[in-house]
Amino acid sequence: MVAALGGLARRLGRACLRSACSRRWASTTTTTATKPSHPANPSPSPSPDHITLLGTAYPRDRWTNVSPSIQAKLGRGLLTVPNHPLRIIKLRIEQYLNETRPGTDPLLAPRAFAIVDSLSPVVTVQQNFDSLLVPADHVSRQPRDTYYVNQNQVLRCHTSAHQVQTLREGHDAVLIAGDVFRRDEIDASHYPAFHQMEGIRLFSHDTLAKYNPEIAGSPIFEQAGSPTYGETAAKQKSHTALAAAVVERDLKATLDGLARHLFGSEIQVRWVDAYFPFTHPSWEMEVLFHGKWLEVLGCGVVQQQILSNAGVENKLGWAFGLGLERLAMVLFGIPDIRLFWSTDSRFVSQFSEAAALNPGANAVKFQEFSRFLSRSKDTTFWLPSSGFEDNDFFELVRSIASDLVENVQMIDSFVHPKTGRTSKCFRVTYRSYERDLSHEEVNLLHNEIRNRLAADLKVELR
Ligand code: PHE
Repeated sequence: MVAALGGLARRLGRACLRSACSRRWASTTTTTATKPSHPANPSPSPSPDHITLLGTAYPRDRWTNVSPSIQAKLGRGLLTVPNHPLRIIKLRIEQYLNETRPGTDPLLAPRAFAIVDSLSPVVTVQQNFDSLLVPADHVSRQPRDTYYVNQNQVLRCHTSAHQVQTLREGHDAVLIAGDVFRRDEIDASHYPAFHQMEGIRLFSHDTLAKYNPEIAGSPIFEQAGSPTYGETAAKQKSHTALAAAVVERDLKATLDGLARHLFGSEIQVRWVDAYFPFTHPSWEMEVLFHGKWLEVLGCGVVQQQILSNAGVENKLGWAFGLGLERLAMVLFGIPDIRLFWSTDSRFVSQFSEAAALNPGANAVKFQEFSRFLSRSKDTTFWLPSSGFEDNDFFELVRSIASDLVENVQMIDSFVHPKTGRTSKCFRVTYRSYERDLSHEEVNLLHNEIRNRLAADLKVELR
């Protein structure tokens, strides 16, 4: 399927693979917008003052942009559904880090990684961005890309939002799993709700020395004023080059082993330099799958500032964040990200947790249980002079057609030579995983989308 043009991927000119997506973090574009540029949630809501998420009422304000379709995804708890492929991937990662790897890692005790998987996805702006040193004007903070509950709270856009609080609890090794939310385009591998798993591991001087005896006699931190104090491409300013190199080596060995544990020893892995505000140096890991390199995670050496803000002293460490859907799609051959949310028993019944956790088990390949008719409809309109964000359009489509929409693709865009107005044409593809959609039903949905486009997003329909 052709990746939809839209959102971040389009702005940055490369398809975003939604596992960790450092494009989100690497963008040099900043925003000066301190006020939301999007329209407030266009759907009528039961309470104009509050939005209820997971049983808690939060005050609404101008920033509120959590749509009813996203509200409905909260609390689905896919990671707790027995035999669900996302749960299987999560369990296999835990198995590798807490059971398989300790056998090869002299320093890692069995069950060393604490499992944190029941934290609410409603977090503060401070947790999601500030605590991770994301600049105040960073593009990822825009309401175009992030779901705001209100000015102070968001639906977490990554599990990194919990780094500081878990570090504060004193863990040296922790895995954080949960659902995360990003306003984004619509296609087979993009969905506004998905799941991530974060891993963090810290090392003291003693621990590092056990990996590399050379460290025993030398410090792991540089003193300010020393000639080697200072950031380089390979290390943070306060780290010694040796300590940073040993942490990097452990991080890469751990994740390389994880890829082999998940995909088999034949899998080919490569490392690509990346940028995240919360790690330095940073990398993405890509795996070769059907002849293509796929980004599956982002990682790096945790910014020392984050550790010291969390009250951690005299240690340094690594962190990674991976996208569970992407790994499950590759491992089980699941063709469409919407399937993870399917309540059709023919989906989950194809997978077995017990079998998948058996060492050496081959992953069963997903058998498509239905391929119903798809229907595409185009809609063309002039953009309003007040501004238009593609993500607002995607959100509107989702809020009306929900999981009946498979793909939204911009197929044409031009500026009128005389009036200077911009016209866009989007193709919306409808397909259900449960039944054939009738012409009438699709027409009704499409007309509703067009009506709301005009009413809420102020476009001029053509
Ligand atoms: N939080 C990053 C993302 O979602 C991934 C990441 C986690 C990168 C931890 C580095 C360290 O894009």
